[in-house]
Amino acid sequence: MTRSLVSIEDLHNDEIEAIFELADRFLDEMATTGKPHRVRGRRTLARDFILSTLFYEPSTRTRLSFESAMLRLGGQVISSAEVTSSSAAKGETIADTVRVVENYADVVVIRHSHEGAAQVAADYTDLPVINAGDGGHEHPTQTLCDLYTLRAAHRQKQKNADLSFKDVTIELRGDLKHGRTVHSLVYALARFGARIIPSHAPGCDLPDHVKQRLARDYGCLLLRKQEIQDLADDDFPEFVYVTPEGPHQRTLWTGEEADVWFKLSLDQRQKLREMKSVDFFYATRFQKERHEDGGSGEEYPAIDAAMLKNKRYRQTKVMHPLPRVDELSYDLDEDPRGVYFKQAAYGVPVRMALIASLLELFPSLLSQSREARYPLYSNAQGLRCTNGKCVTRQANEARYVIPKFWIVDETPLTVRCVYCDFEYEPRIVSRGSTKKYTAEIDEWREIYDRSPRDLILYLNEQEAIDAGHQLRRGRKRPTGHRPLSEPLATT
Ligand code: NCD
Repeated sequence: MTRSLVSIEDLHNDEIEAIFELADRFLDEMATTGKPHRVRGRRTLARDFILSTLFYEPSTRTRLSFESAMLRLGGQVISSAEVTSSSAAKGETIADTVRVVENYADVVVIRHSHEGAAQVAADYTDLPVINAGDGGHEHPTQTLCDLYTLRAAHRQKQKNADLSFKDVTIELRGDLKHGRTVHSLVYALARFGARIIPSHAPGCDLPDHVKQRLARDYGCLLLRKQEIQDLADDDFPEFVYVTPEGPHQRTLWTGEEADVWFKLSLDQRQKLREMKSVDFFYATRFQKERHEDGGSGEEYPAIDAAMLKNKRYRQTKVMHPLPRVDELSYDLDEDPRGVYFKQAAYGVPVRMALIASLLELFPSLLSQSREARYPLYSNAQGLRCTNGKCVTRQANEARYVIPKFWIVDETPLTVRCVYCDFEYEPRIVSRGSTKKYTAEIDEWREIYDRSPRDLILYLNEQEAIDAGHQLRRGRKRPTGHRPLSEPLATT
């Protein structure tokens, strides 16, 4: 079965570890003396394969490191650096482009400004698709490089241990709202048990849908300093995300923070009490191009040598996916705590290992099939994603992409756009076969079990009426024709 990497969720933890072990091998065998993070030379492993890059957005390191990785594996590369000035400018859809390119190459790397674009590409080709960034949504291969960098620094402390960041505290700084690298990274960090301190710039907090996915999918909890009386000394951060070690009662995002402390193991509580320093900074630039109003980036937090004099940060290693603007001073470039250029160098061995895995050059590496976490709801009629940046909302793509949602919760019924992760609580349930709707939302289950395709969900009654559906006889009319539920996240 073809495997793609659209979201970091597409890889199991042990597959990530296996990819890293392969990257280690490439570095062991191919790095030059004195530069153990830099691959040199060429192998012949991928000599029969061609990689195609489709970049609809600017890129330097991601595209070049993919191309370098493929060439060093012995493969060939065909690139369309400016797809926007070629086919897309003529109105070609993503589906058509990948169905053409699949005749020319064996693996496709795509970067696009629309959230969910890589998912559309993966849906329309049988080649492995690698997401090199889809709008402000995800950037899973950067996350692999970030985790590899964390692992390299952490391994110095923990020899030969399985990949785990349980003892790692990482502070995320800057634009957590639009930074796609941050989104993929927090999911992975939650899975590997790291403590995450979000330090966002004003107006740049993690988006709601990212917080919801952190909580729902990975059991990640938000711990607030003010709620933890005995920890509230000056050094303790205002917020920390933690993932409980054992099974615990799943918490919805809001309302239950006070219980968080008690969901942690004694060991975790003790470690939090002792947490006086930060192991890693992960800085990101202000994502100017993704702020609707262009944004100003004023009061944007910067990291420099002076800041690392603070006792909390004296040992802190500094990571950055690059490019940097003003948020990361050049005075850390020669400082051993600045690991961002190594992080960029790791892009080659890590991407070599990823390409080799997806092309099945080492067959047992990605052995497990990926099971969907949630049931799928999909219907051309009814609910549509309201995120204006979602690929399903783009006129060109909307002609053929059928909206798809994961059913992530049953009470209340909550669905998540497969493409961009925005979550919704539909309030009206109807049937395609009868066009009769009701506000008794629990009835979705019966319809779905009998015939998933017959189920049509609407956010509110007005949408059902506009689509020509009628209230089922004997059913109570929902109060008013106003929307009963606004989407949980709208921007
Ligand atoms: C990032 C990206 O494109 O999202 N760059 C990268 O791939 N290393 C980060 C950014 O552009 O700020």
